[in-house]
Amino acid sequence: MPILIRGGTVVNHDHSRRADVLVDGPTIAALGTNLDAPAGSEVIDAGGCYVMPGGIDPHTHLELPFMGSISADDFEWGTKAALSGGTTMVIDFCIPDPGQSMLAAYQDWRRKSEKATSDYGFHMAVTSWSKQVFDEMETVVKTYGINTFKHFLAYKGALMVNDDELYNSFARCAHLGALPLVHAENGDVVARMQEAILEQGITGPEGHAFSRPPEVEGEATNRAIMIADMTGAPLYVVHTSCRESHEAIARARAAGKRVYGEPLIQHLTLDAGEYDNRDWDHAARRVMSPPFRAKAHQDSLWAGLQSGSLQVVATDHCAFTTAQKRIGAGDFRKIPNGTGGLEDRMPVLWTAGVNSGRLTKEEFVAVTSANIARILNIYPRKGAVAAGSDADLVVWDPAATKTVTAKRQISRIDYNVFEGYRCTGAPIATLSGGRMAWLEGDLRARPGDGRYIERPPFSAVHVANSTWKTQTAPKGVQRMEVTP
Ligand code: URP
Ligand code: ZN
Ligand code: ZN
Repeated sequence: MPILIRGGTVVNHDHSRRADVLVDGPTIAALGTNLDAPAGSEVIDAGGCYVMPGGIDPHTHLELPFMGSISADDFEWGTKAALSGGTTMVIDFCIPDPGQSMLAAYQDWRRKSEKATSDYGFHMAVTSWSKQVFDEMETVVKTYGINTFKHFLAYKGALMVNDDELYNSFARCAHLGALPLVHAENGDVVARMQEAILEQGITGPEGHAFSRPPEVEGEATNRAIMIADMTGAPLYVVHTSCRESHEAIARARAAGKRVYGEPLIQHLTLDAGEYDNRDWDHAARRVMSPPFRAKAHQDSLWAGLQSGSLQVVATDHCAFTTAQKRIGAGDFRKIPNGTGGLEDRMPVLWTAGVNSGRLTKEEFVAVTSANIARILNIYPRKGAVAAGSDADLVVWDPAATKTVTAKRQISRIDYNVFEGYRCTGAPIATLSGGRMAWLEGDLRARPGDGRYIERPPFSAVHVANSTWKTQTAPKGVQRMEVTP
């Protein structure tokens, strides 16, 4: 059934204008003034509202087996939560066990994601290095439409890769036209600090934060940036949480390196004071990596979004119930790491970012959707309100109010880290793939409505951006090639 969104202001990352939007099928059919509603169409009155590209969350972990548990929101409930908050696409991490075939892990993730209610894509994680990994990376890019590979510099003894593996994989990414991603924390140092903190008798959730100070993130971010540069690969730093990491990214960009940074809505708005709470459950529910930081780091992250040295806002949605968190009672190292945020990212960011004057509404669109689509090479199919783009749209009422509470959330967990947060600005309707997915509290999207979205590799120029090559490499050396 066609849908006409009438009387709103269309907001893209680069301009806004009054226009009606006609959706007919999975794409946007037309934008214009006083468009006629085709026979049988549903008409949405968007007077006083903004019509924006649906949010894209570039960082989720739905039904992820991790630290002895499986994250509680699966592709059905995670994407339903997303749609209710104005997010119409998630990019989830396909994570092979070390030594497991990437192709087998991909099939696992395709099976789990069949019940997605919104569009989705995958990043592929490199958790070990071998000829098999080298070969399979090509299939992942050319056959599966995945142009990003994730590397964990933390989680020693589990997912962590060392510098040798990192170098090999980054070089392979550059060769294949893929963008490497890093979880930047020095896992060796974290493991040592965890032991030292336990020796002092600290076993509670606050020990998690003590063992992962900003320095471990700053060091790993710098290291990943330098290694990426020597291979010619660009770099995307996930969950940038602190000044040290942001400054490494800003410095790299100022030097001409193609490096991107992704703060989370949690790190922008919640702080390390949460770990001082005497209620173990309260603090453990907020255990994630990197941990929440001292408030001063938030100023740096906001400044990064405002100045463009940080480009996107994600959630790292990896939701564990309180019962799952209690696995770590007596030893903070065993608390499953992760928090939720999929349904809250857009309203909380609007409230903290736009209503405070830090971001314009166009910048909001950039950091929640358009920049993500551009960095991941799916723009303008996604991330734009334009004729021919996918009809993934959010009708946003800047005056709507909502107080976040676990009692009314769609996520399957029993708490919400944003509990009590008062939002002004929220969706009244979310369209996904041309269908009305969520309308004023009525969740219409069904399992299987979501489509798997392939992302093409990047151009040779995009992945050959090495300042090392142009400034200090020995004459004739173009790029460090790697063999399996
Ligand atoms: O604590 C977190 N962030 N859990 C999810 C896995 C990861 O590191 O992204
Ligand atoms: Zn991570
Ligand atoms: Zn993550």
